[in-house]
Amino acid sequence: MAVSKHILLIIGGGIAAYKAAELIRLIKKSGMTVRCVLTESGAQFVTPMTLAALSENEVHTTLWSLKDETEMGHIQLSREADLIVICPATANLLAKMVGGIADDLATTLLLATDAPVLAVPAMNVRMWQHAATQRNIAQLRSDGIMVMHPDEGDMACGEYGPGRLPEPESVMREIVNCLSGETGVHGQNELGPNPLDGQPAFAPNQHRPLRGKHVLVTAGPTHEPIDPVRYIANRSSGRQGFAIAAAAADAGARVTLVAGPVHLPTPAGVMRIDVETAVEMEQAVHDALPADVAIMVAAVADWRADSQSGQKIKKDGAAPATLKLTENPDILAGLARHEQRPALLIGFAAETEKIAEHAKAKLEKKSCDWIVANDVSGPIGESVMGGTDNSVHIVTGTGTEIWERLPKMEVARRLIAKIGEELA
Ligand code: CTP
Repeated sequence: MAVSKHILLIIGGGIAAYKAAELIRLIKKSGMTVRCVLTESGAQFVTPMTLAALSENEVHTTLWSLKDETEMGHIQLSREADLIVICPATANLLAKMVGGIADDLATTLLLATDAPVLAVPAMNVRMWQHAATQRNIAQLRSDGIMVMHPDEGDMACGEYGPGRLPEPESVMREIVNCLSGETGVHGQNELGPNPLDGQPAFAPNQHRPLRGKHVLVTAGPTHEPIDPVRYIANRSSGRQGFAIAAAAADAGARVTLVAGPVHLPTPAGVMRIDVETAVEMEQAVHDALPADVAIMVAAVADWRADSQSGQKIKKDGAAPATLKLTENPDILAGLARHEQRPALLIGFAAETEKIAEHAKAKLEKKSCDWIVANDVSGPIGESVMGGTDNSVHIVTGTGTEIWERLPKMEVARRLIAKIGEELA
């Protein structure tokens, strides 16, 4: 990264503002310069003194500073930046940007700039999931603003879900990506279909590694009915698959997400198809072809009931009913043999022991290109299955990489970045 890059960092008001301090340290360490703008509510969480000391630059807090206006006017402040980063970006700040409101220094700069803008949202889960925020995110992306997907997990407010600020290392990686244009930025920037080829058109100056690619993702468990009230299932929450679908859409792909029964919101820009059983999932996967990349994250039930009772099976006082099982189709292995096999076929493996060894065996058995193996051992409730974090082994034809415990959204971002490199 060239040493001459200038970042203008806008710090909004939220508990995640403290992470901006670490981000400044990382930006400086990379050789870039950083100048901070602190909003009035941001100043409730971090002080200008902290930011000035870390950035080694004056911190700007108000539009109405005579001194600032004579030395460096707010327009100039926005123009000297190679990239404007809003971290954390609050729901309020994002909403103002959508409306073109300029009622403080941060929003005025954002309206006046012609530099690329990266927004890193952080907010309460319900605020993030609110239709107004989702509408605003979609609008900002179509206006050419890059918006990172927040992490999911326990929140400072005691709730749980998506809305946490990504780790400063992730934001830093995104900054480097935005500036270098080598890998993914998270703007959708869809300007509507291109009249020439019907494909989505994108803002011209933003490189996204999976632009123009169709990525097919399966996620969640399958439910295999036994009778009208009972079914066979597993503990998969669908979170890892949904995070991957979100990261792929952020990277510019057209994404089809075939989801088993889970209670998760559909990530922005993703086409979701809901299914119940393995047989339905296989059909939906075949219907979605052709795809450039398929990532089979679903924990498909290996067996289903041989026959399904039309009525609830009753206890009849004698021996318990016998459940006869039949094997489900292996969707991943079937896709590997399919005449429209995706160029990059990635399986997941849930293992409780000998992770790498079993993953390598699965890679060969299922004829896929990579296996992402996770360790699902551990007590119920603390295991990866249903949890927020994941630690994975990525097994490819050429070797194995180990990613130690990371939030599932971060695993998703790294996997999508790796896929982008592979396709390049
Ligand atoms: N998979 C699939 N169809 C199935 C079973 C699994 O497509 N009927 C896919 C999963 O989506 C995952 C990979 O195969 O990408 C591995 O799943 P896993 O459950 O770990 O492996 P199994 O094939 O079920 O092997 P085993 O249970 O013996 O470990």
